Amino acid sequence: MHTLITAGPTREPLDAVRYLGNRSSGRMGVALAEAAVAMGHHTTLLLGPVPHAPAEHPLLEVVRFETTAQLQALLHQHLPGARLLLMAAAVADFIPEPLADGDTKCSRHAGPVGLTLHPAPDLLQACAASARDDQTCIGFALEPADELLERAAAKLHRKGIDGIVANALCTMDARTISGTLLLADGSTCTAPTTMAKADFATWLLNTLRTELGV
Ligand code: CTP
Repeated sequence: MHTLITAGPTREPLDAVRYLGNRSSGRMGVALAEAAVAMGHHTTLLLGPVPHAPAEHPLLEVVRFETTAQLQALLHQHLPGARLLLMAAAVADFIPEPLADGDTKCSRHAGPVGLTLHPAPDLLQACAASARDDQTCIGFALEPADELLERAAAKLHRKGIDGIVANALCTMDARTISGTLLLADGSTCTAPTTMAKADFATWLLNTLRTELGV
């Protein structure tokens, strides 16, 4: 069983020193990687620019990315060998047009600047569209607490994936998570309590094995 996990934020460069990013800590994906190898899965973790990484393990390969384009290329390379994709990365929704060449710093003395933002490609939707029948793709959705399940269910169907973990916006950058797994057949499994991300990772992998056989 080979598990492919993505974690952490993307960073889209604005000039030589600045970027557009987000507050994702990567903790959920790192916890998933540690839980997956503890269960004996060969695991590849595609990890964004965060300060921490999982403990080294003979079953674990960690590959770093920064931009959405780099993550897209890594998914293209690693997805064919995976049985399960867990897409916990906080991928950019918008890619900015750079303010200056890659090796130049935009100066404030030039006056105000505006950002032009282009919608980013949906990497998970593309993975699901190209996945074989023997592959399972699971997404993560951070949503406002009052519309959590409705919005996550809409995302699950829009992206054509097998399941999605719905959790409230406050989960980003937090140490605990209270999540619900929604599956494509309409069923839901809710973690029994608010858990440390390490415990939630084990609960999620066990639930996926029970519900989907992965
Ligand atoms: N995702 C992705 N590519 C993107 C944005 C998100 O693959 N450009 C993935 C995330 O890794 C996550 C899932 O899609 O597993 C849901 O991410 P989310 O940001 O909640 O969904 P969006 O498609 O960006 O929808 P919206 O902007 O409406 O919230």
